Amino acid sequence: MTTNSKSGFNSSFGAIMAAAGSAVGLGNIWRFPYICGKYGGGAFLLVYVFFVFFIGMVLMMSEFVIGRRTRMTPATAYSALRPQRPQWRWVGILGLLTSFLILAIYLVISGWTLNYFWESVTGTLASVSNTGFEAHFNHFASSPVRPIVFIALFLACTALVVIAGVDKGIERVSKLLMPFLVVLLVLLCIRSVTLEGASAGIAYLFQPDFTKLTGEGILAALGQALFSLSVGMGVMIVYGSYLPVDDNILKSSMWITVCDFFIAVLSGVAIFPAVFACGQTPTEGPGLVYQVLPVVFNSLGGIGHIVSIVFFLLLTLAALTSAISLLEALTAWLNERGMKRVVSALLISLSVVVLAALASLSFGDGKLCDLHLFDFLDKLTGAYLPPICAFLTILFFGWFMKKEDILDELSNHGTLKVGYFKVFYYFLARFVAPLALLTVLVAGIVG
Ligand code: TRP
Repeated sequence: MTTNSKSGFNSSFGAIMAAAGSAVGLGNIWRFPYICGKYGGGAFLLVYVFFVFFIGMVLMMSEFVIGRRTRMTPATAYSALRPQRPQWRWVGILGLLTSFLILAIYLVISGWTLNYFWESVTGTLASVSNTGFEAHFNHFASSPVRPIVFIALFLACTALVVIAGVDKGIERVSKLLMPFLVVLLVLLCIRSVTLEGASAGIAYLFQPDFTKLTGEGILAALGQALFSLSVGMGVMIVYGSYLPVDDNILKSSMWITVCDFFIAVLSGVAIFPAVFACGQTPTEGPGLVYQVLPVVFNSLGGIGHIVSIVFFLLLTLAALTSAISLLEALTAWLNERGMKRVVSALLISLSVVVLAALASLSFGDGKLCDLHLFDFLDKLTGAYLPPICAFLTILFFGWFMKKEDILDELSNHGTLKVGYFKVFYYFLARFVAPLALLTVLVAGIVG
């Protein structure tokens, strides 16, 4: 079953950078900090760590195993591993459809981000008064043309990389961008924590407040862990199918997970101390990045202009490597069905840009079309579909795949030792992860 005629990543390092590029995105820099603050800081962090390392990382390992074992996309991998139950392929297809929806909404927010990067560079953002950012954002986000132009620009960059190919496009860009991103983030952290009054922001992020950690918060932690690691939808099955034969899957999964986790925490450290030091209060959702942070940048004086450029550049690049993975998974799907890579990438891009444009037009108070598409997609992709897909994936891995196949893949056909770590993760995949996912799902539906 393991054929190697397909293109793939050239090295484990490249593969880790590409998968970390997929994982690190708007979810880390934009979503994690405010969710963490909202649901009790350190208390939320404890639950989040558990979900990330004991469920998210298990899923990543599982998807890599399924992908490398079959060298197929989710649409065919499940049924190839379980030919007597071909209906399993619907799990893969549901994941890919979910990825399509995620990509649409992701493009809308990435478009905003690219626009804000552009406005930072040209100085437009700096010329808005501190009380004017809310109106500025609402005016922009609900206008008919400009957001869509930026969505299209961003998507064009994404598609170019995907068309360039797995190793020559995705791997190369990720190896370049990921280290650069970490440098930018560390610089922002240093500026933020050295501001006077920064400690209130650190406290907001880390001080545990167990009263704020509600059932809803626990659900949010799980959703965030899955989204942030890009797992559950089969995107990592596609990246798994590109892994080098000698890659140590569990070890790579661990590095990617550690990297994703620390970048999320560092983003909080970059954002909240500065927000509190400038006398602002953190808000959630788009408000934080597009309305509160510009005020913070303006209050920093001369350097604020540069900080603003760096921040929005960071966010744009992080979003880019994530969007690439979503587009790649969908492109690989059509590619597998016999369509050329270029044609598949263009076809998916054209269809997703339509959905993204509609979502953009239905955003905000001044919305131009009354579809409620933005809110609908946000709910669907943020709360419901990912845990369902994730549960079915882990159920398949733990209970329907052959144990020997899994251990063979994790040990690289017996060349690596099957130690406690691998056995422990297999145990998590069989018992802990499915039970935890099911519990949270049921609680979510009942609640
Ligand atoms: N993980 C990315 C983020 O944190 C988003 C993302 C990229 C994603 N690819 C995915 C989410 C696949 C789910 C599935 O922003």
